Amino acid sequence: MTENLIGKIEEYLSEQFLHDKKRLEHIHSVMQKALELGEIFRVSKDKITIASLLHDATKKLSFPENYSMARIIFAEETIKHSPKPCLHAYSATALAKIKFQIDDEEILNAIAYHCSGRKNMGILEKIIYIADYIEETRTFIVDEEIKHSSKVDLDRTVYLIMKETEHYLKEHNRPLAKDTLEAIEAYESKGGF
Ligand SMILES: [Fe+2]
Ligand SMILES: [Fe+2]
Repeated sequence: MTENLIGKIEEYLSEQFLHDKKRLEHIHSVMQKALELGEIFRVSKDKITIASLLHDATKKLSFPENYSMARIIFAEETIKHSPKPCLHAYSATALAKIKFQIDDEEILNAIAYHCSGRKNMGILEKIIYIADYIEETRTFIVDEEIKHSSKVDLDRTVYLIMKETEHYLKEHNRPLAKDTLEAIEAYESKGGF
């Protein structure tokens, strides 16, 4: 059953990203990294595989396509508070639910919050969020401290990535997702790291 589903998703991705090998490479690299972390933190391989493969599945869609797909399952209020570059996370969640009939909440949340993160993430959410940032094909240089931390403390790693993201977006005059800001505040209210 799962193998069949994974095969169908792989087929969909090869069609979608036929002319974007880099994206396909990124997706598989996220999966590899997430599986490595899953081994350490004992998370289901199937859940990791499905969430990783689908996290960027709608990256090729236009803004209106992404928007209307996301709106099938998310309220306008939710989408409105998300910066445009994170819209694909919501549309990919809708794709997972509708096209691939996935109803596992952990998988759906891991796809929906892989871009912004949020406070009180589940373990699968944290793993996909981290793997998306530190996977090997990323063109930016990832702090060695973050790479090291990912193997020992998921919350600290999520916090460090969020702080780097906040810093980067501020420097480029771009908005930080409300969910990211709330998560940073929640970590800091508990004393930070
Ligand atoms: Fe993404
Ligand atoms: Fe990604």
